[in-house]
Amino acid sequence: MYTQALDLPDGPQAAPAARAVPSDSALQSHFDAKMERDEKVEPRDWMPDHYRKTLVRQISQHAHSEIVGMLPEGNWISRAPSLKRKAILIAKVQDEGGHGLYLYSAAETLGTSRDQMLHALHTGKAKYSSIFNYPTLTWADVGVIGWLVDGAAIMNQIPLCRCSYGPYARAMVRICKEESFHQRQGYESLLVMMQGTDAQKAMVQDAVNRWWWKCLAMFGPPDADSPNSAQSQRWGIKRISNDDLRQSFIDATVPQAQVLGVTLPDPDLKWNEARQHHDHGPIDWDEFWSTVNGNGPCNKERLATRVAAWEDGAWVRDAALAHARKQQARSLKEAA
Ligand SMILES: [Fe+2]
Ligand SMILES: [Fe+2]
Repeated sequence: MYTQALDLPDGPQAAPAARAVPSDSALQSHFDAKMERDEKVEPRDWMPDHYRKTLVRQISQHAHSEIVGMLPEGNWISRAPSLKRKAILIAKVQDEGGHGLYLYSAAETLGTSRDQMLHALHTGKAKYSSIFNYPTLTWADVGVIGWLVDGAAIMNQIPLCRCSYGPYARAMVRICKEESFHQRQGYESLLVMMQGTDAQKAMVQDAVNRWWWKCLAMFGPPDADSPNSAQSQRWGIKRISNDDLRQSFIDATVPQAQVLGVTLPDPDLKWNEARQHHDHGPIDWDEFWSTVNGNGPCNKERLATRVAAWEDGAWVRDAALAHARKQQARSLKEAA
């Protein structure tokens, strides 16, 4: 078929029986040269096991984060203060579901099934972003998640559009466009609240105080404590280090906070003329690791909600499978 021809990795191939099998070292050299030329790796290309495993882990964690990330904001759909805000929030939460689906599909091209990935999530083996294990206490949290959490996600994800693995890079292009809308709707919602009553302004400031440090931790541990980052950078999976991304996020966010009229809760946050960047205070990594390891305020609730959704959806999966089998049987009968 036409698409199969397009899928061939490196031009016309000999028939399998006649084809010489390249040695592992030849395949490795071919892969290394591809990395050197900054070319994309596609699903049918040879790749080292470690590269494949790293990508499966990263893309599936990313997909889980999108799906679990629907929950904190989903809580507010029924309590949004106006029809307009409700429509925006529904669209955003749906987008996050879509991001999860693109990413599960990208990870599946590496030979791992969606069932395997979801099993790892549901049994607590797979991780997802620590940020989604915190509660959304007020309506201002929804705006702050858009502004800061989606803002941090954009900073993290734009370089992934240049990731060496083709399906992941292409998924990220579309995702980043949607994340940009998420960030803007959150910021705009906060701007409106900051022109409201003192109670509304206080609610925004309180939400900023609770989310700021957790957003800084979203970029992951300091470079010195990220042993896998260097390899991921060599492979073109990770383009910019955790600390550099965090710094860019802080530098971009400080002027936005000034326009908004809120204070960022860090007494050490100040412009460093020599570095041409903002300095900031220490991040509580003990809290980050405790949350990553399952002890954040909402870890159990989030996982229980996902498992219940999976179990409640069993009849839909069964019905879809039964329908597909019926269609397959019908087309086989017609072809006979
Ligand atoms: Fe997303
Ligand atoms: Fe988002």
